[in-house]
Amino acid sequence: MTTEAKPRIFSGVQPTGNIHLGNYLGAFRNWVALQDDYDTIYCIVDLHAMTVDYDPAELERERIDTAKVLMALGVDPERSLLYTQSQVPAHAELAWILGTMTPMGVLGRMTQYKDKTARGERADLGLFSYPVLMAADILLYRANLVPIGDDQRQHMEMTRDLAERFNNRFGEVFPIPEAYIPETSARVMSLTEPHNKMSKSDEQERSRIAVLDDADVIRKRIRSAVTDSDPEVRYDVEAKPGISNLLEIMSATTGRSIDDLVAEYAHSGYGVFKDAVAEAVVEELAPYRETYRSLSNGDVRAVLHDGGTKANELAAPYEREVRKAVGIKGY
Ligand code: TYM
Repeated sequence: MTTEAKPRIFSGVQPTGNIHLGNYLGAFRNWVALQDDYDTIYCIVDLHAMTVDYDPAELERERIDTAKVLMALGVDPERSLLYTQSQVPAHAELAWILGTMTPMGVLGRMTQYKDKTARGERADLGLFSYPVLMAADILLYRANLVPIGDDQRQHMEMTRDLAERFNNRFGEVFPIPEAYIPETSARVMSLTEPHNKMSKSDEQERSRIAVLDDADVIRKRIRSAVTDSDPEVRYDVEAKPGISNLLEIMSATTGRSIDDLVAEYAHSGYGVFKDAVAEAVVEELAPYRETYRSLSNGDVRAVLHDGGTKANELAAPYEREVRKAVGIKGY
């Protein structure tokens, strides 16, 4: 009997706190759902988090807390490899190698880089080459599928291009990975400025729902979400971005189609509709708060320690193959 290897999944998250409904609906829900049918590797990308101003003690805390939140959401260390990027030096080495074949012009066109520098973020080499490290994360483990939200689409395209470029020059080393992006809720928008995506770094806390927020906070945030003055509930991203966002959130949390929701709430008034959205979100998130509280930092550290050891073992032969292909095999 032959057992066929499962396709491999890799994805990552920055340990920058405030894990929100967008992260969950755009990515983490899929991380959890895909654990049985794929060989899943999930990484807390602390080296990426160093590309913006940060406090070292805070980074250490957030690495643990991010892992705890992921475990509370259902990332299961028995079925998935869970570790932090800095535990595996091969990520940074491969990023260097890939960097030698990444045109500056391509990096300059990355919208996340442009957005961050436009907001006044310091523009250093780390931030500029951020997508190269992301490509290294994915390609190091020869991942086939990458569950992400819509905002990472462009980085994924670049990763695929780099894999092809590498293979053309040095031989078939990397499979070409594909993005796995949900149909609804791939881009959950801010509750206060619905033309912008919901973001961890938004200074307005009211703009997002954290996955660990309690029911009262969730209700308050959704009730005060910015909408428009025309009272009809209908899906129209241009004219009604706030209501369209709430429709997407409700569709993603209840499994009901947007058409179905519109048929029910079109003329019920925003108040009734918002209450229904809030209850759907409360119901979805409530169990995770309980599980989060039951996990200890010690348990989480043990998981990361073990995950890091396994990730290094897994990465070593892959990295040797890359070194050999590019001519730095060693003695
Ligand atoms: P990060 O930490 O910003 O976000 C983690 C995941 O959440 C998704 N996401 C969203 N989805 C829907 N709506 C939103 N408003 C929203 N905001 C965030 C992101 O798309 C992401 O999937 N560069 C990555 C981390 C990374 C990575 C990787 C991802 C590093 N290496 C390799 C995949 C593979 C990032 O900053 O994600």
